Amino acid sequence: MTHPRRWEKVFWVFAPLLLSFLFTTLPSQKGNARVRTRLDDNWRFHLGDIPSSLQGVPITQWYWQQGENDPKDVITYSNPQFDTSQWNTATPGQDTFHGRVGYSWYRTLLPSVTYPQPMLHFDSVDDNATVYLNGKFLLHHEGWDDPFNVPLQSAWRPNGPNVLLVLVQNTAGAGGIGNTLLMPYVNLDAARGPALPSYNDSLWRVVHLPHDFVVEGNYDEKADGSHGFLPTNVAWYRKHFYIPASAKGKSIWLYFEGIYRDSRFWLNGHFLGRHQSGYIGVRYDISPFLHYGAWNVLAVRVDARRAEGWWYEGGGIYRHVWLTIADPIHITPWGVFVTSQLPSSRQALLTIQTTVTNASHQSRGPVRLLSLILDATGQTVARSSSTLFVPPGQTRQLVQNISLSNPHLWSLESPYLYTAISRIEQGNDVLDEVKTEFGVRTIEFRADTGFYLNGKPVKLLGTCNHQDFAGVGIAMPDNLLWWHIAKLKEMGSNAYRCSHNPPSEELLTACDHLGMLVMDENRHLGDVYSPKTPHGAPYSDLSDLKAMIQRDRNHPSIIMWSMCNEEPLQGTEEGARIFAAMKRVVLSLDPTRPVTCAMNGDWGKGISNVEDLQGGNYNPGGYDWFHEHFPNKPFFASEAGSTVSDRGIYENDPQKGYVSAYDLNAPPWAQTAEDTWRPVAERPFVAGCFVWTGFDYRGEPTPYWWPCVNSHFGLMDMCGFPKDNYYYYKAWWGDKPIVHILPHWNWQGQEGKPISVWCYSNADEVELFLNGQSLGKKPMPKWGHVEWSVPYQPGTLEAKAYNAAGQTVATDVVETTGPAAALRLRPSTTTLPADGEEVALIEVDVVDAQGRTVPTADNLVHFQVSGAGTIAGVGNGDPSCHQPNIADYRSAFNGKCMLVVRAGEHAGLIHVRASADGLAPAEVTLTTTPSSLK
Ligand code: GAL
Repeated sequence: MTHPRRWEKVFWVFAPLLLSFLFTTLPSQKGNARVRTRLDDNWRFHLGDIPSSLQGVPITQWYWQQGENDPKDVITYSNPQFDTSQWNTATPGQDTFHGRVGYSWYRTLLPSVTYPQPMLHFDSVDDNATVYLNGKFLLHHEGWDDPFNVPLQSAWRPNGPNVLLVLVQNTAGAGGIGNTLLMPYVNLDAARGPALPSYNDSLWRVVHLPHDFVVEGNYDEKADGSHGFLPTNVAWYRKHFYIPASAKGKSIWLYFEGIYRDSRFWLNGHFLGRHQSGYIGVRYDISPFLHYGAWNVLAVRVDARRAEGWWYEGGGIYRHVWLTIADPIHITPWGVFVTSQLPSSRQALLTIQTTVTNASHQSRGPVRLLSLILDATGQTVARSSSTLFVPPGQTRQLVQNISLSNPHLWSLESPYLYTAISRIEQGNDVLDEVKTEFGVRTIEFRADTGFYLNGKPVKLLGTCNHQDFAGVGIAMPDNLLWWHIAKLKEMGSNAYRCSHNPPSEELLTACDHLGMLVMDENRHLGDVYSPKTPHGAPYSDLSDLKAMIQRDRNHPSIIMWSMCNEEPLQGTEEGARIFAAMKRVVLSLDPTRPVTCAMNGDWGKGISNVEDLQGGNYNPGGYDWFHEHFPNKPFFASEAGSTVSDRGIYENDPQKGYVSAYDLNAPPWAQTAEDTWRPVAERPFVAGCFVWTGFDYRGEPTPYWWPCVNSHFGLMDMCGFPKDNYYYYKAWWGDKPIVHILPHWNWQGQEGKPISVWCYSNADEVELFLNGQSLGKKPMPKWGHVEWSVPYQPGTLEAKAYNAAGQTVATDVVETTGPAAALRLRPSTTTLPADGEEVALIEVDVVDAQGRTVPTADNLVHFQVSGAGTIAGVGNGDPSCHQPNIADYRSAFNGKCMLVVRAGEHAGLIHVRASADGLAPAEVTLTTTPSSLK
């Protein structure tokens, strides 16, 4: 035990005054605290696997028959003379189960090869495999989508015959054996090809993260439609980075925030590990494998071919990568957890739980953990200091309680954030420091009256969303994630469901700062990577779930943890057992939030019995039934809507794959917008709903298939351009009076034909005028719309919305436009940091001579981007558009398209020019400013 030096004693006597002065004016005190660098720039990228990696003889034919797990059969079927003429044949990848649950024996004679150590590489056995060679048991493998190797040497007959038997077990859906290769033994994780540091990657493309290589591909009818008809693939990334000699002896780790998916990592040829999840990140301690005072090579192989879900999932390193260099005594990653209690409105009791690691092999003596609480202006408002000793190679947790007077609460109107600074000091040195933003607020779900934030009732006005956007796919830069949340907020939404996976960390930061409640969702029920969890799935690891909770638990915006969505096991004992194990994990890491999931049936059964809140997908007719039978269980509509519509389309067109934007279309399990919201709005016990979805996303083209490549569920299209249903929700969710008219008024050639004109409004009455002539005033039904049949006549349609006193509170106008004459550009921002990743969204309108958007225009627009930025992608919201996502052109769809411009790495001006045949071009200039993050 070391004793504080005299000056330190004096120092502590003058605390807190002196401390507050020091720490507010000198936030980064002298010391060697951690250095955290974003490693997003300058990655070398190669699409496709490197062919040399796996070579051997493919197994092209199998004989199979249904069977049982009976060891006696092994002896019979392993006899080389056994006659398989009565058995069926199957090729690799063939589904021989067709939903049958049970076993089949697969048999084949292996070709004769002269490898000294033969091995079989199975790409997949769906679901489970027990492998025998010449009657000898070799291996049992679980998991339908998981490649594995079987060394054969122990049972191999060099002169043949070699009888291979595989007992295949199917637990649900399709089943069979995928591609299989007989090959010489290799340790597949040992560095070969691009994993070797010496590999020449100089001809590979340079990319800047975030990166989605699948979105760069071409639409293909043969590719998986639920994933948006974009072919998936394997890809390699390599990154060269320098580590100074001074870093020797430090703790150094790499953190990948998100890679889609199944990644393998090698540093300087050393295999770091494999990480399967496409949605939760991974961290590796790399200090032992680094070259100090030298360049290092990191290689990452990504395999996006297998799906974790049934929507567009992209592929690649699509979130940030961080390199952290810290003292061996440091705050454990995700090791700070701040919670608060509010015994009264004048006082908050904060509990700060801090985990400290001592990664060195020597005792370094006790350290001081100082926790400072900064208010939103950066003033220190509270502090706590404790001494702790962390033995070498161990971690220790410390809990500090701090009282905060007159706390500012985090709310939707005022999303006030505090920052906890956690600092480890020893003597005069600052060994480590991390900052954690948090909010002080209370949450509660009541079975009768729904959700309460800080004691006040708040109806959840939510949307579900996947990570996907026009042009860039899943590679959504930070400022696009902020924009995405801001757009939903603008519509009046106050809640966001991260369906069906943990989102980017920055998205949660945006929700904290902008005031958006979050249902944070784990990807899989139990330890599987398949889209749905089969019977028999393991659940002893749950490390992805643990990572999600530790990563996200300080975000005040998160009000519930969702474990899964629409699982076949949801109503079963087994599902409940897995869920209960998951809930225990959650509560051990965060006891402050309810644990739930989204169930599309079986309400009241299985998981319902062990979750805190009942999340119900669809089936609004069941809300009352549930509440009557389970009056003590809070209920919310975890998914609702799935209304389908396309922007600017007013008639269904199955050929083109377009759905009308009148609120009339929903698949059989879904509802129109009005039938979605009304049942939620009418029932106080329904805490709110999450509408499927805020934005369109690639994949799940419903109700039509190809040529559609994306969903039609969004209230906004892929570019974030509002569809008409957006205004329905804005009317009932927003806090300002609005009125919105649909459709457009360009029906040239249909003069005299009655057109159905709808208005959405939250006012008391709406009056419609055609060319100044009133068509009558109608009372606005609550949660509904008003409608007129108007014989078409070109000109102006105007809607006036009145309050009860007859005053006009909102108006909307649609006009018959002239022909397309010009382009107009409207950027989401005109300044960007020159960080190589952030984007400006340039809304492109095809306008007539008077500057009015021509609602039917489909002109092909060309883009020129020069200077300090590049084209990140293009889009137009057309669900059937097959033009490439990354290109310097795009057709307008119903008057609009979008150009996504990415900042380069050097500050300067970005010149954007848009042109189209016969139209006046348009230009805009953006400025990028120096950024320390590259
Ligand atoms: C739900 C499902 C979503 C999406 C949606 C389409 O049942 O949870 O992921 O597929 O249907 O309507």
